[in-house]
Amino acid sequence: MPAVSVVDAIYRKFLQRYLFSMDAEQAHRLTIRMLSMIPPFTPPAEWPELGIKLWGMDFHNPIGLAAGMDKDAVAIRGWEMLGFGFAELGTITPRPQAGNEMPRVWRIPERRALINRLGFPSEGMEVVAPRIARMRKAGIAIRLALNFGPNSNTPPEGVAADYSALMKRCGSLADFIVINVSSPNTAGLRNWQSPEKMRELFAAMVEKSGESERPVLLKIAPDLERNEMFRICETALELGVDGIVACNTSIAREALGVSSAHPGGLSGAPLTIRARELIRDIHTHTRGKIPIIGVGGVATAEDAWLHIRAGASMVELYTALIYEGPGVVERIKEGLADLLRRNGFRSIGEAVGIDR
Ligand SMILES: Cc1cc2nc3c(=O)[nH]c(=O)nc-3n(C[C@H](O)[C@H](O)[C@H](O)COP(=O)(O)O)c2cc1C
Repeated sequence: MPAVSVVDAIYRKFLQRYLFSMDAEQAHRLTIRMLSMIPPFTPPAEWPELGIKLWGMDFHNPIGLAAGMDKDAVAIRGWEMLGFGFAELGTITPRPQAGNEMPRVWRIPERRALINRLGFPSEGMEVVAPRIARMRKAGIAIRLALNFGPNSNTPPEGVAADYSALMKRCGSLADFIVINVSSPNTAGLRNWQSPEKMRELFAAMVEKSGESERPVLLKIAPDLERNEMFRICETALELGVDGIVACNTSIAREALGVSSAHPGGLSGAPLTIRARELIRDIHTHTRGKIPIIGVGGVATAEDAWLHIRAGASMVELYTALIYEGPGVVERIKEGLADLLRRNGFRSIGEAVGIDR
């Protein structure tokens, strides 16, 4: 039996109940510690039809780990074992910081959702970069995206310099880079989604990216007005942004059918439809010229399939790992391969954006 099936069975039979009896963040820490102890092993077999080429790179499959789960890049072997095609690590900040005060993560099990207001706890780039470099040297099969964000005590005039410093220190360790301007828990961060701020940011980063030349993607919020989103798309095309990650957690509650009063960003099932609308709008508005990574409420093969048909070239997930267990990645891959076949497609690439 593949290692991932064993881990999934243990999770669903015993571990999930135990972890759900703890504070959500404590449970997360324990999970990450367990995953970080996984030794090198052979990752699960892939379905060749799920392979996709983006930015000149081959991905074994289009299912990625979303940012926030492995902020300090400690469990890369674990993500390989679960069968992900790529893992987005971070958000990494330039200097270490503790994030907001606890409690700061809440489960909403009846909606298969989470709310968090973590505020980028990070060991900082000087700790995380050598850790990733060591893993690269040891050899890894999975593609890595690095997600960057500024420190919370950086004044607005220093934010572009924070992203530049991250680019310079960590850029060459990534297969691609995600600029996070959309977490709701760092004051003022979402202002960087405006066209003027985007131009300032990308000018500063291009200067510092040096020889790394990695694809640079922008991660946006689900709470943007349609017009704001269209302006972001146009600016992204103008600046030659390599991709858009849509989307981060939401500050909406009632509009997504959630009544919880906890502060922070909402993720999981209530976000599925909103994320898909956003993916479809971006794909339509950019005429498919910018690859989209679709993230938000993906828990089944059908969810991933519909995000892809709306315009996502790849998808990511976070919250589904907690509710569905670590086997969710393999279940989605198997289901996607089946959906491709039943719908008469030979590859994921053929299905991207067909529902536009
Ligand atoms: C506890 C938690 C922490 C997160 N931290 C980050 C983060 O540091 N950076 C980021 O870009 N997104 C972060 N996210 C957002 C996820 O990457 C993703 O965009 C969002 O959760 C929607 O996907 P999901 O519904 O599959 O969880 C976080 C999400 C959760 C639940």
